[in-house]
Order: sequence, then structure tokens, then C-alpha cells
Amino acid sequence: GKGNHAHFMMKEIFEQPAVIGETLNAYFNPASRTITIPNLPWDWNDLSRVTIIACGSSYYAAMVAKYWFEQVARLPVEIDIASEFRYREAPMPDGGMALFISQSGETADTLAALRYCKQAGQHIASILNVSESSMARESDIVFPTLAGPEIGVASTKAFTCQLVTLACLAIHAGVARGAIDHADEARLSSAITKVPEMATEILNNDATIRALAENIHEARDVLYIGRGLDYPIALEGALKLKEISYIHAEGYAAGELKHGPIALVDKDVPIIVIAPSGALFDKTASNLQQVSARGGRVIFLSDRDGIAAVGHDASAVVELPKADPFVTPILYAIPVQLLAYHVAIMKGTDVDQPRNLAKSVTVE
Ligand code: M6R
Repeated sequence: GKGNHAHFMMKEIFEQPAVIGETLNAYFNPASRTITIPNLPWDWNDLSRVTIIACGSSYYAAMVAKYWFEQVARLPVEIDIASEFRYREAPMPDGGMALFISQSGETADTLAALRYCKQAGQHIASILNVSESSMARESDIVFPTLAGPEIGVASTKAFTCQLVTLACLAIHAGVARGAIDHADEARLSSAITKVPEMATEILNNDATIRALAENIHEARDVLYIGRGLDYPIALEGALKLKEISYIHAEGYAAGELKHGPIALVDKDVPIIVIAPSGALFDKTASNLQQVSARGGRVIFLSDRDGIAAVGHDASAVVELPKADPFVTPILYAIPVQLLAYHVAIMKGTDVDQPRNLAKSVTVE
């Protein structure tokens, strides 16, 4: 059932502190502060590259993973959308590893891509929320996300649990490859252990986000921007909004704004700026100032320090807990889910069963 929530989506959003914690527990040993993953069929040191393939939100999780693996494990990552990859006849590295991300484990294009990689002699790994699924049966190893059944068509808790699993894998690879040491491993994994509590803090602030939805539900277009690890969250936020509210929304890498999309900016276009403080903050802050100088209505998602720096240039701010930059994509996924939900409620759409969409896309 939906518990005391009106929709499965909201119930699933609110389950995140618990299921993120459970997923982390599957990969993290708090006593030794190490990531433990038994029986890996490959040695991280033998890989010249990892290929990660998925669709939709699961693909955005792959985008975040690319940043993590490259930063933390110094391991090159190629990512692709399954429907593109499957027909590309891509050459694959000898003895390579291909990783598939899917909530359902049944997405037709992702399964076809998996079969292609198997034929091409890759080790096949999958991050799946449904462990009795086609992809599970055809993989050499499955990394489960312990999100529990996800009913809402818009993926929420499955996405954040995919991120947790990918973060653990990146740390594991980083240690194995000598790219990070045990102290780094302990620091990064302890940053993940703080996510459930911070997620609760964000959920407790839901009324602030609901109030912002008032400014958005009449918009025709909404832009989301982010940079680095938070760029895929801009894409995810835009996908959530279009799926359930049917408002046209686009996510962009903040640095791409001036290469075209800034032409769309006027007083009627809300721009959601996702910019936790950290190494890339100043860059995105200057993008924020560029759009607000052009009359854009900026809704700024950041932490105390970010808001102190440029909050006055935004029309509205949402303050999130200050976190290690490594985990911000997991945390910042939550306010964009809530925003999409509240906008959809104001528009009166069917949040759990949006038009034209299916929970799992088992045909091409
Ligand atoms: O089950 P999968 O993770 O393979 O599904 C992939 C996409 O169909 C899915 O993420 C879709 O984009 C969601 N509706 C996003 O909310």
C-alpha cells in the first residue's frame, strides 16, 4: 500500500533514507570502514576501461558513475544509452567489463546491449532492483539495489540506490587500483553513511519545496543546470518534471548555457540551478548570475555556504545540508523529485501512472 502517502511516488521518495542505508549496508563494512564485494569475476587492475549502459534515469546514474570512476579509480568509463549502443557495433576491449543499470532488469534495449557485450566477450555485471529478472539471469554478477519494489512510473528510490551502489563500486575499484588509499576509502564511504540522515533533513523541508511548486506549475518550459557530478541531476530533474507534470523541461551542463540555451531565458522561464559548494561552485554561480541578469527566475539549490555567496541573485533558494561533494548527486536528486511531484499535483496529473509511459519498457 501507499502507507500514509497519497501516491506511491511520494511513499517511495520518503523511503529513501531507509533504503539508501540498506543498500549501503550491503557493500560497506562499518567496522573496518571498507567496501567489501566478494567474488568479483574480474581484477580492476586488468581493465583498461569500463562500459556502462542503461536507459532513462538509470542512464543518468551511469553518467554520475563515469565521474566517480574516473575521479576515484582513475579508470576510463564509456557510457551509452542502450538503444544507441545496441546498433552501434561498438568494438569492445579484450577481457573488458560491461555494467548494466536497470531497476526492472527487463528493459528491452538494455537487455539487447547486454547480450551484445556477452557475445563480445565482456564480463557482464548488472546493478538491478529486481533480482529475479532477465538481466539477472544473463549476468556474471549482480549488484542488487535494495530499494524494494518501486511502483511509481517515475523512478525515485531505485535511482538513488543505484547511485549508492555505483559509489561503492567506484571506491572499491579505486582501492584495488591504488588510486586511493584506505584513508580515502574511509572518508568517502563515511560520507555515504551520512546520506540517510541528510536525506531525512531534506524530506523534513518538503513544505519549502511544495511552496516553490507554486512558481513553476504555470510555466511552459523549465531549465535545470548543474556541473560535474551534479550535471546528471539536472537531466534527472528535467526528466522527472516532464514525465509527471508534462511541462517541457530540459537539463543542461551549466557551461553549455551560453552555447545556445541561454537564448530561451526570460522572466517566464524558471531555471533550477543545482550547485552545492565545492570545487566547481564558482563556475556555476557565475552561470546563475548570467541568467538572473537576463531576467531569469532562478531557483537555487545549494547549501549554507553556496546560499551565503550568491543566494541574493536567486528568486528562491532551497538550502540543503552541507555534504562531501562526492555524495551530492545522491542528495540533490531528492529535491528535484519532490519539486516534480508537487508541480504534478498542482496540475492534477496522474502521478503514479503518467500518460503514455510504462513502468518497464519491455519492447523497443
Ligand atoms: O527499469 P529500468 O531502470 O531499465 O528503466 C529505465 C527507464 O525506462 C526508466 O528509468 C525511466 O526513464 C523512468 N520512467 C524514469 O523515471
